[in-house]
Amino acid sequence: MMRKIVVGITGASGVIYGVRFLETVRKYSTNTEIHLVMSNTAINIIKHEVGLDGESLSRLADRVYGEDELGAPIASGSFKHDGMVIIPCSMKTLASIAHGITDNLISRAADVTLKERRKLILVIRETPLNLVHIKNMELVTLAGAIVMPAAPAFYNKPRTIDDMVNFIVGRVLDLLGIENELYRRWGGYSEE
Ligand SMILES: Cc1cc2nc3c(=O)[nH]c(=O)nc-3n(C[C@H](O)[C@H](O)[C@H](O)COP(=O)(O)O)c2cc1C
Repeated sequence: MMRKIVVGITGASGVIYGVRFLETVRKYSTNTEIHLVMSNTAINIIKHEVGLDGESLSRLADRVYGEDELGAPIASGSFKHDGMVIIPCSMKTLASIAHGITDNLISRAADVTLKERRKLILVIRETPLNLVHIKNMELVTLAGAIVMPAAPAFYNKPRTIDDMVNFIVGRVLDLLGIENELYRRWGGYSEE
């Protein structure tokens, strides 16, 4: 059965997480239709941090929308999907979602995802955090979102940046129920 997911990439550092997420779903989950929105800031940071333009990323998605396309299908709760992930999610987008400010397509799609009680995963990236950030995370959690800090583990002994990125992306795919072998799962101290 075809699965539909909505992916937002916002202007936080760590856009590589979003890129790897798209690459992985495209490669391993052929029955997943990807609806992608990149914010304008994200497009600049993608160029700066990973040297890709928005267009090459767009090729990894089935449908791509601009952040101002508030008439897009994903802006409506009547668009059925199997989950939305914002990866990475800036503190600005987190704040918009927490306070119901739906002034671009990413925050609007997230807002309707929550109102329809669908899965919303926010891979936030900021450090350190102020009380505004923490309170906003509390609000979205109470509203049903999953806040997933982009904080890779070290128990699986990562050797490269790729290992660390794959750990976070693999955990997001787990939350969406997409099979993956992106990272080594904890097998106990005895399994070295
Ligand atoms: C190079 C760069 C890195 C940034 N990194 C972060 C970050 O890690 N977390 C964050 O919350 N904002 C970060 N920002 C600030 C956001 O881009 C800014 O708040 C922007 O308004 C977010 O808009 P968006 O969520 O619509 O993409 C960064 C900005 C730049 C230019």
